[in-house]
Amino acid sequence: MSVDEVVKFVDKMVFEKTGKHLDDIQTAVVEGTWKRQTYDYIAREYNVSTSHVGDVGSELWQLLSEILHEDIKKTNFCSTLERIYIKSSQNPNICIGNNYYYSSQTLNQPNKEDDKSNINTENKLSSYDLTLAPEIINFYQRVTELEKLSDWIFKQNTRFILVSGLYGTGKTTLVKRFIDLNLHKFAVVIWRSLKYPQPLELLISDLLNVCQQEPQVTLDKQLKQLFDILTEQKCLIILDDLQNIFIPGKFAGQYKFEYQDYQNFFTLITEVKHQSHLIVISQEQCPEMECLDDELCPIKSLELSGLYDVDILQNRGLKNEDNWLKLIDLYAGNFIDLKSVSILINKNYDGQVADFLAENTLHITNQMQSRFREMFNHLSTPEKEIVWHLSKFDIPITRDSLKEGLNLSVVDFNNGLQSLQERYLVRKVRNNTILFQLSSVFREYVRNYCQN
Ligand SMILES: Nc1ncnc2c1ncn2[C@@H]1O[C@H](COP(=O)(O)OP(=O)(O)OP(=O)(O)O)[C@@H](O)[C@H]1O
Ligand SMILES: [Mg+2]
Repeated sequence: MSVDEVVKFVDKMVFEKTGKHLDDIQTAVVEGTWKRQTYDYIAREYNVSTSHVGDVGSELWQLLSEILHEDIKKTNFCSTLERIYIKSSQNPNICIGNNYYYSSQTLNQPNKEDDKSNINTENKLSSYDLTLAPEIINFYQRVTELEKLSDWIFKQNTRFILVSGLYGTGKTTLVKRFIDLNLHKFAVVIWRSLKYPQPLELLISDLLNVCQQEPQVTLDKQLKQLFDILTEQKCLIILDDLQNIFIPGKFAGQYKFEYQDYQNFFTLITEVKHQSHLIVISQEQCPEMECLDDELCPIKSLELSGLYDVDILQNRGLKNEDNWLKLIDLYAGNFIDLKSVSILINKNYDGQVADFLAENTLHITNQMQSRFREMFNHLSTPEKEIVWHLSKFDIPITRDSLKEGLNLSVVDFNNGLQSLQERYLVRKVRNNTILFQLSSVFREYVRNYCQN
């Protein structure tokens, strides 16, 4: 939620209750509290006394408590407001408190100039199916990424977007957060995961059912039905965990035989003119993204890496906050690895991060081991060879030094190296020359647990 959205949201509630809009100091209190500023700081900024800001604040919290039927204070304002805002955008006619009804469509009325596409959703029945999408409670940073998604979808009308990155980098969370903030701008939003994949035909008839359409008999006809909907209304379809329809033991991004239709579907989504969007989330890049001319491509790709922010370790029972950034660096800002290691630090080190770091060991937890075992077993033979060899080096090395130590044909070597980058396991470092390096946690795993 941006600070402008917060002010608009609060102003709307206050106006409905009192018939008056927020004045300058009330607005400053809302803005400042959202930015986690003290009353003292706000007072200095506005050249008024701290006690005056404090009084305005208490009156405002009192008023909001009455409106929302919840105890609102400076300390819980951000979390409560965000929760209510998200709830109101998920349900366009949510009841806030006992007597106030807010339609997220009126609260977030987009600027008509900014978002002409919104016109198309008017007077249409909305169909939302987010049953399998995660609920987002805490969300940090990723402002640029959210802006990019908005820009691609609402300004550039990008029809196909891939959000990719290593496990645990926050791909699913980011996309769900985008939906929470923009749900009302789409007539149809459907979230599906390919964790337990199904043939394309079943997926398409499932999508048609959500849109209250009786699927016709052949896949061809169903696709025609679906594209009619995608053309008439602004829809957003999300397919999470795409990597599950790729073949294990082969190079990255190769579709299993029974799921090859998905590839044609993605091409159709990109090439046919309509006003809707498909966001695909994957741990591996997919071949559809290979587009050398960014300008000409109706496809966009957003690659996520870890988040280097101490906030991500809040509420994990950890101590020694001064050391948190070191811990985050060690695990490359990966949410899932940091969660796993935080549990270990709590259990074995009583939450003392400093004591854990004093061991000077990149600890691979049991949970990490089983994840990496599965990832390693999914690699093709040339990739395994490259990974074993690369794991011996602490520093990034050149392509030639890497090739020298391996008994692979040029073709296998190049395909393997490309594939490992497409899985985000090998990173390319640009110095004076190009160097390659394994992700550090995976390197530690391969060194200790993989036999050559
Ligand atoms: N920006 C964020 N702010 C706060 N928490 C986050 C953020 N991004 C991710 N998380 C937390 O990190 C965990 C992992 O995130 P998420 O499931 O989105 O990762 P992922 O990249 O989709 O992983 P996978 O590839 O395994 O599906 C979740 O529990 C989520 O709550
Ligand atoms: Mg995910």
